[in-house]
Amino acid sequence: MCGIIGYTGPLAARKVLIEGLSQLEYRGYDSAGIAYFGSDSSMKIVKTIGKVANLKELCKDKNDVSHCGIGHTRWATHGGVTTENAHPHEFGNVVLIHNGIIENYHQLTIDFHLEGKLVSQTDSEVAAAVLDSMYHGNPMEAIRSLVPLLEGSYAFCIMFKDHPGEIYAVRNVSPLVAAYTHSGSLIASDLTALIPYTRSYFVLPEERIVKLTAYKICMYDMEGNSREPEIMEVNWNMDAAMKNGFPHFMLKEIYEQPEALKNTILPRISRGLPDFEADQIPDAIWQDLSQIRIVACGTAMHAGMVAKAIMEPLMKIPVIVSIASEFRYEDPLIDNKTLVIIISQSGETIDTLAALRLAKSRGAKTLAIVNVKGSTIARESDYVLYTHAGPEIAVASTKAYSVQLAALYLVCCRMAYINKALTEEESINFISQLLDVIPAMEAMIHQADTIKAVVNHLVNQPDAFFIGRGLDYTFSLEGALKLKEISYIHAEAYAAGELKHGTIALIAENVPVIAIATQDKIFGKTISNIREVKARGAFVILLAKENATVDQGVADIQIRIPNINDHFTVFPIAVVLQLIAYYASLLKGLDVDQPRNLAKSVTVE
Ligand code: F6R
Repeated sequence: MCGIIGYTGPLAARKVLIEGLSQLEYRGYDSAGIAYFGSDSSMKIVKTIGKVANLKELCKDKNDVSHCGIGHTRWATHGGVTTENAHPHEFGNVVLIHNGIIENYHQLTIDFHLEGKLVSQTDSEVAAAVLDSMYHGNPMEAIRSLVPLLEGSYAFCIMFKDHPGEIYAVRNVSPLVAAYTHSGSLIASDLTALIPYTRSYFVLPEERIVKLTAYKICMYDMEGNSREPEIMEVNWNMDAAMKNGFPHFMLKEIYEQPEALKNTILPRISRGLPDFEADQIPDAIWQDLSQIRIVACGTAMHAGMVAKAIMEPLMKIPVIVSIASEFRYEDPLIDNKTLVIIISQSGETIDTLAALRLAKSRGAKTLAIVNVKGSTIARESDYVLYTHAGPEIAVASTKAYSVQLAALYLVCCRMAYINKALTEEESINFISQLLDVIPAMEAMIHQADTIKAVVNHLVNQPDAFFIGRGLDYTFSLEGALKLKEISYIHAEAYAAGELKHGTIALIAENVPVIAIATQDKIFGKTISNIREVKARGAFVILLAKENATVDQGVADIQIRIPNINDHFTVFPIAVVLQLIAYYASLLKGLDVDQPRNLAKSVTVE
């Protein structure tokens, strides 16, 4: 949430900042702003409500040369969407941008007598004011004094008016990556803003302060000792962060799924079996377990629900899925015989991170399934299994979901094999069925036009229902979330057998019901439930396997997926559900990639 960038070097800073903010805009898009040292070394600040395009427009006639500046794209937390609340914030000698929440901002306002002196309602301006009061000419000293006073999460990029050409940064929880390049020094919330300039970068660790100048980046610990950053290499290229001819990132990312699955699965297959040796995950973590807890948010949590339905019957131990924001405030029963699997695309979701920390404090073994290399969750968990989806830019998660599933299926198979719940032959067969999902997903991508036509029956409706049983129910949850978040159609997922206990009262003439029936064992039961809604006038869109026999009149429209094993149907079904949401948003003329009120990477509670 919120994208931040800093640049100092020989290039035109305003351009670098605005281009960087466009790359980071998916992290927040309520308002945007930049601050930079002008040619006379005086500080200039330009900020506005709305998207980065508005900021670009405001800057287009500015001709003054600038080589050092910071920029911010905001997702509002403290204070509404106003120009005053937009970043950068200026107080005295300090100009800063902030991603995160300073929880004790109110107390700081009192302690530092700031009432009546602030122009915004933000916690960030309070931090700027406190820092200014600590500042007596030495930026490092002032930042070191500020840090112990702050409670909450933060990534700050800071400029001091009397130190032109320099940017300072410090963080707690909220991410920052930095790079020194031939074109100068850069720092940003994530790699997408750095990638046009470099392939080498480092993640700024917590409790470190960096100083960026045009010629180098120096890192220090809180005692002022110089520290060496750990340089990493990016494993994707700029193309991955561009639309490459697709009208939206979301569509591009849906289409990228077969490739992302190959990248996630194939390097981890050895002699037909899943193998995590290169990930340095020892088999001991799958053994001697009394339970498995899966913790995540949103779409990642839905991937966890699918995994539970596969894992529990196979492993014959409890697998409990929790929403991270609930888990962290519960008193979860976990111990050293518990494996806690944390799932997160960004690796920065604050509730998920807090859940990981809680699990570790209770002695559980922790495994993170994460997409962003070097992210906080990846670094803090005992073991990490990276998904290789490349950058996911659209706010609605698509390819990250399917690679999370792929990783979970690999985990499930390895765990079952090691614990002899599956024989070697059965495990090899499991993996071969997992690989079959790749052409099955491709087949559904080829049906994009058919799916687009189906969406005409949805877009003018205020509500839609997704129903299914067993695994199909877990897919429905994700289908409903995707439709809600980008088309703003109210959508509910319901276990098909549960409808008649209340919700069926909402089914009336033409109400769209997306019915998922891919599980052979309970197919007949689901069809009976579909008949119940059909009898009450629902417009039924049925998602079933090619070979399923469905009587006439059960569904108004049918979308068929390839005949693959029941346990694996989530993959082609995910493509269908994503395309339904995508086309619904498109046909309604909405902002597909940046839906209202949302942002990627939820670094606030
Ligand atoms: C929905 C979506 C969110 C994320 C959730 C967790 O399309 O993207 O529900 O899945 O915010 O984010 P990560 O996986 O980054 O922890």
